[in-house]
Amino acid sequence: MGDPRLLERSKAVERFATLELSALLADMRDTMVAAKGAGLAAPQIGVGLRVVIFGFEHNQRYPDAEPVPYTELVNPVITTLVGPMEEDWEGCLSVPGLRGKVPRLARVRYTGFDPSGRPIERDVSGFHARVIQHECDHLDGILYPARMRDMRSFGFTSVLFPDAETIED
Ligand code: NI
Repeated sequence: MGDPRLLERSKAVERFATLELSALLADMRDTMVAAKGAGLAAPQIGVGLRVVIFGFEHNQRYPDAEPVPYTELVNPVITTLVGPMEEDWEGCLSVPGLRGKVPRLARVRYTGFDPSGRPIERDVSGFHARVIQHECDHLDGILYPARMRDMRSFGFTSVLFPDAETIED
Protein backbone atom coordinates (compact mmCIF):
# COMPACT_ATOMS: atom_id res chain seq x y z
CA MET A 1 0.00 0.00 0.00
CA GLY A 2 1.38 3.37 -1.00
CA ASP A 3 2.77 2.19 -4.33
CA PRO A 4 0.95 4.25 -7.01
CA ARG A 5 0.70 1.18 -9.28
CA LEU A 6 -1.91 -0.20 -6.86
CA LEU A 7 -4.14 2.81 -7.57
CA GLU A 8 -4.18 2.59 -11.36
CA ARG A 9 -6.77 1.03 -13.64
CA SER A 10 -5.18 -2.02 -15.28
CA LYS A 11 -5.33 -2.69 -19.01
CA ALA A 12 -7.11 -5.59 -20.69
CA VAL A 13 -5.03 -8.52 -21.95
CA GLU A 14 -5.29 -8.57 -25.74
CA ARG A 15 -3.53 -11.84 -26.60
CA PHE A 16 -4.09 -15.20 -24.96
CA ALA A 17 -1.90 -18.31 -24.80
CA THR A 18 1.34 -16.32 -24.92
CA LEU A 19 4.63 -16.96 -23.15
CA GLU A 20 4.29 -13.57 -21.46
CA LEU A 21 0.93 -14.49 -19.98
CA SER A 22 2.24 -17.90 -18.83
CA ALA A 23 5.25 -16.24 -17.18
CA LEU A 24 3.05 -13.66 -15.46
CA LEU A 25 0.75 -16.39 -14.10
CA ALA A 26 3.72 -18.43 -12.86
CA ASP A 27 5.02 -15.36 -10.99
CA MET A 28 1.59 -14.73 -9.53
CA ARG A 29 1.18 -18.36 -8.39
CA ASP A 30 4.61 -18.35 -6.72
CA THR A 31 3.83 -15.07 -4.96
CA MET A 32 0.42 -16.21 -3.76
CA VAL A 33 1.71 -19.55 -2.49
CA ALA A 34 4.73 -17.98 -0.75
CA ALA A 35 2.46 -15.47 1.01
CA LYS A 36 -0.25 -18.07 1.75
CA GLY A 37 -2.74 -15.77 0.07
CA ALA A 38 -6.26 -16.62 -1.05
CA GLY A 39 -5.92 -14.57 -4.21
CA LEU A 40 -3.67 -12.19 -6.10
CA ALA A 41 -4.08 -9.59 -8.82
CA ALA A 42 -1.36 -8.68 -11.34
CA PRO A 43 -0.99 -5.06 -10.10
CA GLN A 44 0.15 -6.48 -6.75
CA ILE A 45 3.36 -7.63 -8.42
CA GLY A 46 3.64 -4.40 -10.38
CA VAL A 47 1.98 -5.52 -13.63
CA GLY A 48 -0.92 -3.35 -14.82
CA LEU A 49 -2.89 -6.07 -16.61
CA ARG A 50 -6.37 -7.45 -15.91
CA VAL A 51 -5.29 -10.84 -14.57
CA VAL A 52 -6.28 -12.38 -11.24
CA ILE A 53 -5.76 -15.75 -9.58
CA PHE A 54 -7.48 -17.16 -6.51
CA GLY A 55 -8.50 -20.37 -4.83
CA PHE A 56 -7.50 -22.85 -2.14
CA GLU A 57 -8.52 -26.08 -0.48
CA HIS A 58 -7.78 -24.68 2.96
CA ASN A 59 -6.26 -21.30 3.67
CA GLN A 60 -4.32 -20.49 6.84
CA ARG A 61 -5.22 -16.83 6.51
CA TYR A 62 -8.96 -17.66 6.32
CA PRO A 63 -9.34 -20.91 8.26
CA ASP A 64 -13.16 -20.82 8.26
CA ALA A 65 -13.58 -20.13 4.54
CA GLU A 66 -15.07 -22.87 2.37
CA PRO A 67 -12.80 -24.14 -0.45
CA VAL A 68 -12.67 -22.11 -3.66
CA PRO A 69 -11.50 -23.82 -6.89
CA TYR A 70 -8.11 -22.60 -8.07
CA THR A 71 -8.82 -20.20 -10.92
CA GLU A 72 -6.71 -18.14 -13.32
CA LEU A 73 -8.94 -15.43 -14.75
CA VAL A 74 -8.12 -12.93 -17.48
CA ASN A 75 -10.18 -9.79 -18.19
CA PRO A 76 -12.73 -10.59 -15.47
CA VAL A 77 -16.04 -8.75 -15.31
CA ILE A 78 -18.51 -8.92 -12.44
CA THR A 79 -21.90 -8.72 -14.09
CA THR A 80 -24.07 -8.65 -10.93
CA LEU A 81 -24.00 -5.15 -9.56
CA VAL A 82 -26.96 -5.14 -7.15
CA GLY A 83 -28.24 -7.46 -4.43
CA PRO A 84 -27.89 -8.11 -0.73
CA MET A 85 -24.56 -7.25 0.84
CA GLU A 86 -22.76 -8.99 3.66
CA GLU A 87 -19.86 -7.80 5.81
CA ASP A 88 -16.90 -9.98 6.68
CA TRP A 89 -13.20 -9.76 7.43
CA GLU A 90 -10.69 -9.26 4.63
CA GLY A 91 -6.98 -8.91 4.47
CA CYS A 92 -4.71 -8.19 1.55
CA LEU A 93 -1.11 -9.12 0.76
CA SER A 94 -0.62 -5.46 -0.24
CA VAL A 95 -1.90 -4.27 3.16
CA PRO A 96 0.13 -6.62 5.39
CA GLY A 97 -0.68 -7.25 9.03
CA LEU A 98 -4.14 -5.70 8.93
CA ARG A 99 -7.76 -6.82 8.66
CA GLY A 100 -10.99 -4.95 8.11
CA LYS A 101 -14.68 -5.71 7.76
CA VAL A 102 -15.77 -5.06 4.21
CA PRO A 103 -19.30 -5.07 2.75
CA ARG A 104 -19.56 -7.08 -0.46
CA LEU A 105 -22.35 -8.45 -2.63
CA ALA A 106 -23.35 -11.82 -1.19
CA ARG A 107 -23.80 -13.37 -4.67
CA VAL A 108 -22.27 -12.39 -7.98
CA ARG A 109 -22.00 -13.65 -11.52
CA TYR A 110 -18.63 -13.16 -13.16
CA THR A 111 -17.23 -13.74 -16.58
CA GLY A 112 -13.75 -13.78 -18.01
CA PHE A 113 -11.32 -16.03 -19.85
CA ASP A 114 -8.82 -18.68 -18.90
CA PRO A 115 -5.20 -18.13 -20.07
CA SER A 116 -5.97 -19.95 -23.34
CA GLY A 117 -8.86 -17.64 -24.10
CA ARG A 118 -11.69 -20.02 -23.25
CA PRO A 119 -14.64 -18.21 -21.64
CA ILE A 120 -15.48 -18.69 -17.98
CA GLU A 121 -18.84 -17.79 -16.45
CA ARG A 122 -19.81 -18.56 -12.86
CA ASP A 123 -22.50 -17.73 -10.31
CA VAL A 124 -20.95 -17.73 -6.86
CA SER A 125 -21.66 -16.82 -3.25
CA GLY A 126 -19.89 -16.76 0.10
CA PHE A 127 -16.11 -16.45 0.20
CA HIS A 128 -15.83 -17.13 -3.53
CA ALA A 129 -18.01 -14.06 -4.21
CA ARG A 130 -15.94 -12.02 -1.74
CA VAL A 131 -12.56 -12.96 -3.20
CA ILE A 132 -13.54 -12.22 -6.80
CA GLN A 133 -14.86 -8.79 -5.79
CA HIS A 134 -11.65 -8.09 -3.85
CA GLU A 135 -9.39 -9.16 -6.74
CA CYS A 136 -11.40 -7.28 -9.40
CA ASP A 137 -11.17 -4.15 -7.24
CA HIS A 138 -7.35 -4.40 -7.53
CA LEU A 139 -7.74 -4.11 -11.32
CA ASP A 140 -9.54 -0.81 -10.83
CA GLY A 141 -7.01 0.54 -8.33
CA ILE A 142 -9.20 -0.02 -5.27
CA LEU A 143 -7.81 -1.47 -2.01
CA TYR A 144 -10.29 -2.91 0.50
CA PRO A 145 -9.96 -0.13 3.14
CA ALA A 146 -11.60 2.19 0.59
CA ARG A 147 -14.68 -0.10 0.64
CA MET A 148 -15.04 -0.10 4.42
CA ARG A 149 -17.99 1.66 6.06
CA ASP A 150 -16.78 1.66 9.65
CA MET A 151 -13.09 2.19 10.30
CA ARG A 152 -13.56 0.97 13.88
CA SER A 153 -13.46 -2.55 12.41
CA PHE A 154 -9.98 -2.02 10.96
CA GLY A 155 -6.95 -3.22 12.87
CA PHE A 156 -3.88 -5.35 13.24
CA THR A 157 -4.47 -9.06 12.64
CA SER A 158 -2.42 -9.88 15.76
CA VAL A 159 -4.69 -7.71 17.92
CA LEU A 160 -8.03 -8.60 16.32
CA PHE A 161 -7.32 -12.34 16.26
CA PRO A 162 -4.75 -12.91 19.02
CA ASP A 163 -5.51 -16.63 19.29
CA ALA A 164 -5.38 -17.40 15.57
CA GLU A 165 -1.72 -18.38 15.37
CA THR A 166 -2.28 -19.81 11.91
CA ILE A 167 -3.29 -16.47 10.39
CA GLU A 168 -0.24 -14.88 8.89
CA ASP A 169 0.45 -11.78 6.87
NI1 NI B 1 -5.72 -7.80 -2.11
